[in-house]
Amino acid sequence: MILHITLPEDWAEARRTGRYTASTRDATFPEVGFLHASEDARQAAVVAAAVYADRPDAFLVALDEEALTGSGFAVRREPGDPADPASELFPHVHPGTVAWDHVPVQMMRPVAAPDAEARVLREDTAEAAALQDAGWTERSRSWGARLHLADDADLTPYRDLVAAVEAHGVEVRVLGSADLPALRALDVEAAPRFPRTDGSFHTPLPEDLQARLEEEDGVAVGAFADGELIGFTLVFRTHGAEGEGRWDVDRTAVAQLRGSRGVGKAVKAASVLATHARGGRVWGTGGAEVNTAALRMNEALGFELEPLWLALVPPTPAHARETSTDTTRGEEEVKGA
Ligand SMILES: CC(C)(COP(=O)(O)OP(=O)(O)OC[C@H]1O[C@@H](n2cnc3c(N)ncnc32)[C@H](O)[C@@H]1OP(=O)(O)O)[C@@H](O)C(=O)NCCC(=O)NCCS
Repeated sequence: MILHITLPEDWAEARRTGRYTASTRDATFPEVGFLHASEDARQAAVVAAAVYADRPDAFLVALDEEALTGSGFAVRREPGDPADPASELFPHVHPGTVAWDHVPVQMMRPVAAPDAEARVLREDTAEAAALQDAGWTERSRSWGARLHLADDADLTPYRDLVAAVEAHGVEVRVLGSADLPALRALDVEAAPRFPRTDGSFHTPLPEDLQARLEEEDGVAVGAFADGELIGFTLVFRTHGAEGEGRWDVDRTAVAQLRGSRGVGKAVKAASVLATHARGGRVWGTGGAEVNTAALRMNEALGFELEPLWLALVPPTPAHARETSTDTTRGEEEVKGA
């Protein structure tokens, strides 16, 4: 990986056009003939101090040298001071055989600031675009999904999903207070299997769970095999202007050894039936992009995906000396499913 120092305005322009045309500060690739880069964060910090001292918003972008050369660019180590052949060498990205006057923006990625706190924003917001223009990158993605059912919706598919597991001796029913110790135990077992990302993660069950379930605004549905709780889903009705009356899935969990046999779909289908009977017409859920089982389960229930939620992290400032150039992305993560 080699590093390039960029400015938010150059990065924003490159995101807009797909072409990164700067070479260094106030000089374009066509003018200079190559893209200036640094070997590592130490070298970049020296350049930052010399050239970008008045721009604390300058940040580091990583380029994969192998990918560059594979695409026809030539990366040459050349003296930083062309007049002094003995001066420190810097990697310069020359057009090589491609004869381009820019670097495609897809070949460049801002170096995320290590351990930075993410901001989770919907991908279609102006705020998300503004942050990405300023070098913020995705650390993880999560999805939200909605299900809409009319008063006279055909609920047969939901009954069929429940019947499919009942045919294998599994009992599916709304849970009562007596079931809560088993629900809490299953939640503890499943907790480590919830993907942990910025936008989606496991949280402890609410302290007042029993009271909320005794009210009309909470429903828990469980699946039992031989009297043992093997799966549950928990939904709460939302109050407030946004989403008024929507039933949001707090969480769904299935015992590890019982996965992928339709139990998740069955408890969710039963919760839709129970809440539709209470007047529910809209349901909300979500999850980490990496949670394929949760995504499939919800698609099977008719949930439709909304624009993604991006967990965006800031770039590494060019001036920071102690920087990590690790550009590997963390895993993804939303509450619900
Ligand atoms: C998510 C979870 C509740 C799903 O329960 P489940 O009983 O396995 O779900 P189901 O069998 O009803 O449905 C899962 C679907 O995903 C599919 N699936 C499961 N794992 C998969 C994977 N790794 N890749 C692709 N598909 C997968 C199953 O084949 C099934 O698909 P189908 O509709 O084509 O049959 C369960 O995996 C779980 O408890 N995970 C840990 C807790 C969690 O992540 N909860 C969601 C919080 S966001």
